Amino acid sequence: MRVVIEANVQRVGEVAAEILAAQVRRDPRSVLGLATGGTPCGCYRELIAIHRRDGLDFSQVRTFNLDEYWGISPDHPQSYHTFMRAELFQYLNLCPANCHLPRGDASDSIAESERYERGIRDAGGIDIQLLGLGRNGHIGFNEPGSSLASRTRVKHLARQTIDDNARFFGAPELVPRSAITMGVQTILDARHCLLLATGISKAGAIAAAVEGPVTAAIPASALQLHPQVTVIVDEDAAAELRNREYYLLAEQGRRESSEYESPQH
Ligand code: F6R
Repeated sequence: MRVVIEANVQRVGEVAAEILAAQVRRDPRSVLGLATGGTPCGCYRELIAIHRRDGLDFSQVRTFNLDEYWGISPDHPQSYHTFMRAELFQYLNLCPANCHLPRGDASDSIAESERYERGIRDAGGIDIQLLGLGRNGHIGFNEPGSSLASRTRVKHLARQTIDDNARFFGAPELVPRSAITMGVQTILDARHCLLLATGISKAGAIAAAVEGPVTAAIPASALQLHPQVTVIVDEDAAAELRNREYYLLAEQGRRESSEYESPQH
């Protein structure tokens, strides 16, 4: 794992956006895995700025989001379809037909899950998967206890997730009780995983994901099994990392010499 500790939330967004932008420059037909929630918003703002400033072209880029609330339609004001349009899609020259999210209003969850997995496979797999982190260690909506071999399916949300997401709905009782989410294995199939976390409330989950044992109790810890993971955190989210000094040293080394640079972390 490459662990990048940045001074503040804004830098986390800038560094993440630069990694995504570099991927799109390398391959204009890149497949990006995207996330919702508060964490990726700074990254999306910076990606929009790069598109405007440098004319970065997204016309051939394909996107797949991690998840969608189950039981709500794409045009629901709190759906992740709506979120992605508002925070990112409307500002880039993406082709709407290339932007994929699982449908929360599908009649058959198993058929919809299989359709989503097939879509990712048919696109050639995900080049970079952007991830936020739940305070309970979830990635996507793979709540603690999720199989590390899981694929897209409907999962019940944990109490803490419902409470954390109540801010988007106005009250916990309005938050859907389940979501259709890529599985842990679907996420691990991406060629590069980019995990972002900011704020002191994520410090425990980051330490458990990066330095704790690999366990279904902390689904993000499965990322330790992936050969190319970049974790970008601000100082607050890094507060409980035991190997902080090593991560800083390693990043300094990367900056000073690119000779031994390897895509494997
Ligand atoms: C969102 C998602 C979730 C969030 C996580 C953190 O698509 O899959 O795993 O990334 O709940 O949410 P925020 O960023 O709001 O703290």
